[in-house]
Amino acid sequence: MIPLDLNPEKMPQHVAVIMDGNGRWATSRGLPRIAGHRQGASTLKQLLRCCKDWGIKALTAYAFSTENWQRPIEEVDFLMLLFERLLRHELEQMHREGVRISFIGDLSALPASLQAEIERSMTETLHNQAIHFTVAVNYGSRNEITRACRQIAQLVEQGKISAEAINDSLIEQNLYTADTPAPDLLIRTSGEMRLSNFLLWQMAYTEMYFTDILWPDFDREVFHQALLSYQKRDRRFGQVKALLSA
Ligand code: FPP
Repeated sequence: MIPLDLNPEKMPQHVAVIMDGNGRWATSRGLPRIAGHRQGASTLKQLLRCCKDWGIKALTAYAFSTENWQRPIEEVDFLMLLFERLLRHELEQMHREGVRISFIGDLSALPASLQAEIERSMTETLHNQAIHFTVAVNYGSRNEITRACRQIAQLVEQGKISAEAINDSLIEQNLYTADTPAPDLLIRTSGEMRLSNFLLWQMAYTEMYFTDILWPDFDREVFHQALLSYQKRDRRFGQVKALLSA
């Protein structure tokens, strides 16, 4: 059930999250950082279920950036194993619940066994419609935009399109997120207030919500607060209000 103080008609259709603070959550409890990631994965699972229950049609999570390879090798290895294990153990239930899973990022650099699980999960859930869950792994927005430019430049080089035909929509079609509406709301936890190379093109008009809560502690109540804040915003997309409602 949607909390009574939320307007079901003003729910965001697409929520994006930067899950920050797993390491600090663990360290503050005297645990290894990987314990924070394990707990963070469970938080993400709960959030996915909550989004589905409250009628939000898409959730995108930043799980691993192109810069995250610079972390200690044990932590990187653990995260790769965690992604793979989660897919192995959770796919069946997610599929039953109607979740469509997509991965975005340069997946070619991931371990082969993880790539195989990713491929399987995307194919198996392709036609599910309850919620679209996108996981960004080895993702960087600048890389994504550069890749799109290169693809479009090739089309021009081959004489398939003219330079004048390049517009917003063609660029969008060449991003990993082609055919996915832009996020309405971005949430970043743990007090960091930056985008860190996440969905830079897609978030041109996204509302942002920052909280000091560490990701593993991000529960339904904190999400509820984020949605209340979102519903109070006046979204104008660069226009004036009178024109938008006309
Ligand atoms: C940021 O916290 C978190 C990560 C880099 C990893 C996030 C991954 C998960 C929660 C697992 C999700 C699993 C799937 C399948 C999507 P941090 O390590 O930067 O924390 P810190 O800022 O306190 O150091």
